[in-house]
Amino acid sequence: MHAEPQQAHYCVPALGWIHTPLRISRILEKPPQQVACICKVGETSMSLADRVRYPQFHNRIMSAEAAAALIPHGVNVGMSGFTGAGYPKALPQAIAARAKAEHAAGKPYKINVWTGASTAAECDGVMADAHALGQRLPFNTDPTARKAINAGEIDFIDMHLSHVAQHAWFGFLGPMSVAVVEVLGVTADGLLIPSTAVGNNKTWLEIADKVILEVNTKPPAKMEGMHDIYYGTAIPPRRMPINMTHADDRIGEPYLKVDPAKVIAIVETHKGDRDNVFAAPDANSNTIASSIIDFLAHEMKMGRLPKEMLPIQSGVGNVANAVLAGLQHSPFENLLGFTEVLQDGMLELLRTGKMSKASATSISLGAAACKDFEDNIDFYRERIILRPQEISNHPELVRRLGIIAMNSMIEADIYGNINSTHVMGTGMMNGIGGSGDFARNGYLSFFVTPSVAKDGKVSCIVPMCSHVDHTEHDTQIIVTEQGLADLRGLSPKQRAKVIIDKCAHPDYRPMLHDYFDRARSQGAQHTPHILTEALSWHQRFVDTGDMRA
Ligand code: COA
Repeated sequence: MHAEPQQAHYCVPALGWIHTPLRISRILEKPPQQVACICKVGETSMSLADRVRYPQFHNRIMSAEAAAALIPHGVNVGMSGFTGAGYPKALPQAIAARAKAEHAAGKPYKINVWTGASTAAECDGVMADAHALGQRLPFNTDPTARKAINAGEIDFIDMHLSHVAQHAWFGFLGPMSVAVVEVLGVTADGLLIPSTAVGNNKTWLEIADKVILEVNTKPPAKMEGMHDIYYGTAIPPRRMPINMTHADDRIGEPYLKVDPAKVIAIVETHKGDRDNVFAAPDANSNTIASSIIDFLAHEMKMGRLPKEMLPIQSGVGNVANAVLAGLQHSPFENLLGFTEVLQDGMLELLRTGKMSKASATSISLGAAACKDFEDNIDFYRERIILRPQEISNHPELVRRLGIIAMNSMIEADIYGNINSTHVMGTGMMNGIGGSGDFARNGYLSFFVTPSVAKDGKVSCIVPMCSHVDHTEHDTQIIVTEQGLADLRGLSPKQRAKVIIDKCAHPDYRPMLHDYFDRARSQGAQHTPHILTEALSWHQRFVDTGDMRA
């Protein structure tokens, strides 16, 4: 509490960044003597005062609306957020409101938003709905934003998640005007306690001209110490090896750093991350999970996989989560996770002791798992390490640690090329995410999908992918509920036979064999194709709503 009200700096979130009682009295049109009562330091909630222990920041506390007014039209903004975790909750809504007001007044207002990965309806969703997004990178799962991307309104750039920070550093993406970063608090020394996702926050705080911090008082303060922020990355030719030889090594510091002079606003929020609801594993997902686990056990028996097992990466989505659930009943013990998103399935493996440690860049949970995480934070803090995404997804580490990569896909073709992103070759689903970081560099790389989508009207095994994210060179094993195709050491023609026989749905298997047989009687025979027909299944679906002939 300030002893000298006349010289004090008061924080009144509803009014913005205000310095003196005299100024407040003018805005509120109340006599100065009443201001001391109105503007007690208590206006800043006790929890915020507890969380922001760096006194120099107290006079920068303001409302989200006041902070949004500090972000000009047309600039590049770096936001926190990775797979529905750790994204700013108040600023995007205030930015959306500002955009609507500007547009109503006939003025343009759009910003380019770069994040770690996906956010949520209250971030991407509201800004897309307000037509406030110009460019967006590197990943999105929000349906409103997806619609705007596919309508051509938002310029979406789909990037490997490990590339984003370094491309920003190299200057490939342009300058960053403002970073808006959710944190859990600020230490007495001005260090930032990271939130439920680290993502690209370290880089945004370093390269942005100005910084707005959203201090979220909802996630447990006891997450402090869970993070491992590595400050050893540099730009070539001065790069050094990253000194990590085990998935659970800590190589950095628990805090993010920021130049205090860059911090122009502190905004309080008290809100959990989006509820990342997962469907209960269905029969297909369980079959896929069993196939993978049997395969891993066989590999171990054959001496191609070490007895202590290698660290596991698991992609996003229901099938990926089901595979993790399946590991619960596997013969493997003391598992290690080295992944980008820690979802419910992996938290459960930690809870039961099946997995000893997990390294990720984000924790993205459903409501029940989130409660378990918060209730048992001391337990999980010892077992979870949250790192910047340039480390969690680093190709050097993925290869050195020998990661077992498991990612979902939209479709595979008969030669093993993989489409993870585009529906019918043109519509963006979510983005490549980290699948490429892990698939190319992993010790083993699985791609999984049900064999059909849209009630059987779409085959997920097609003659030629309508878009390629991962080439045949990056695909080792494809798994559907029909079976598992081990493509290691096979030529394209050998791969085609295995993929069709093991993975395609019976409704489509004869059609695929027919295509392959006819392709084998014409043209060059290394990777046989009938070019006029290769994408005809997709065209048939676009025309008739069914890939079946
Ligand atoms: N053609 C058209 N649509 C298809 C399809 C295909 N071949 N395969 C799936 N779909 C549709 C489904 O019908 C579903 O549509 P709906 O939302 O309208 O119901 C949607 O795609 C999601 O499919 P689902 O089977 O529920 O899969 P999922 O939740 O496991 O997600 C991906 C699958 C591929 C979309 C998702 O994993 C992804 O975005 N991957 C790319 C990024 C990545 O791999 N990240 C992890 C790196 S660590």
